[in-house]
Amino acid sequence: MSFENQLLKWYLNNKRDLPWRKNKDPYRVWISEIILQQTRVVQGRKYYKNFITKFPTINSLASSNESDVLNVWKGLGYYSRAINLHKSSKEIINNFDGTFPSKYSDIIKLKGVGDYTASAISSICFNEFNAVVDGNVLRFISRYKGLKSPVDKLKSKKKIKEIGNKLIKKTSSPGDFNQAMMEFGALICKPYPDCDICIFKHNCLAFQKKEVDIIPVKSKKKKLKERFLNFLVFIDRDNKTMVEKRIHKDIWYKLIQFPLIESKKEIIDITLNSEFQKFLNFNNITLNKEKQNVNKAKHKLSHQQLNITFHQFGIIEVAGSGVDVPNLNNYNFPVPITNFINKILI
Ligand code: ADE
Repeated sequence: MSFENQLLKWYLNNKRDLPWRKNKDPYRVWISEIILQQTRVVQGRKYYKNFITKFPTINSLASSNESDVLNVWKGLGYYSRAINLHKSSKEIINNFDGTFPSKYSDIIKLKGVGDYTASAISSICFNEFNAVVDGNVLRFISRYKGLKSPVDKLKSKKKIKEIGNKLIKKTSSPGDFNQAMMEFGALICKPYPDCDICIFKHNCLAFQKKEVDIIPVKSKKKKLKERFLNFLVFIDRDNKTMVEKRIHKDIWYKLIQFPLIESKKEIIDITLNSEFQKFLNFNNITLNKEKQNVNKAKHKLSHQQLNITFHQFGIIEVAGSGVDVPNLNNYNFPVPITNFINKILI
């Protein structure tokens, strides 16, 4: 039996029963594929269900507020995915009469959609023959073909895409083929695989040459960037505090935070910091030195290690419109700030 037929047969018998596989509604497949871009199936499933319950149609998503979309995304990370979904839903209403575009060439123009997502949607929902190349597929094909060029280089990705495109064209169900490739990478040809149970081991070059543990090859090891975030938690006599929206294209874009001072290393006594003093002057803040507290948290993102310190101060009155501490959970804070609020403040 050919590779692609063996794979499709394996998929029919072994595929997971996932909520977005119940029908081929492109809206639902789109949402699931965006979630799965940077999230594992186990975690993604829960978020997918909540998302579809809250926004069951393109219309419901397009007519919602961005903050409601961010709220459903809370804890999933890479929040630009949620912002782009929201923007694209409006684009679909305005430019495609509310019907999800059916061609790869239109789908890829949506914000937040790249080759991987456009290939997945166009093959699963519209039977287009575009091979998906995600991390699972890169690993599976490079092992099967014994490819040792680094998979994080564009040239290797292109080569693997070509191999995938040749294979997918031999099938009559491109959507199943793509999902089968991803599924096989996720369940069998895992980073630490159990090759004994693999149906392809006799033709897998990496297995034959005992190179399974060195393929896929990666050219660079991504270094974790270390950051020091100092959040200023001012609490006044009326139990009000100050918050602000993150407006720069960085982690947690558009989420809410306490006023922030980012530093190159840990700050032990922030009252000695000049930026802190400027902040106090600018906002006319007088500290009540007796009510001072420091809490620390560490938070790891995929490429960043965040060292977070919450510097808490009692003050007389917050400037402008403060927010009530008991209502803080109504705002979209990043997860480590929410944890601090619920553990320490509320
Ligand atoms: N990972 C991302 N999308 C997937 C899909 N449709 N099936 C299996 N794994 C996936």
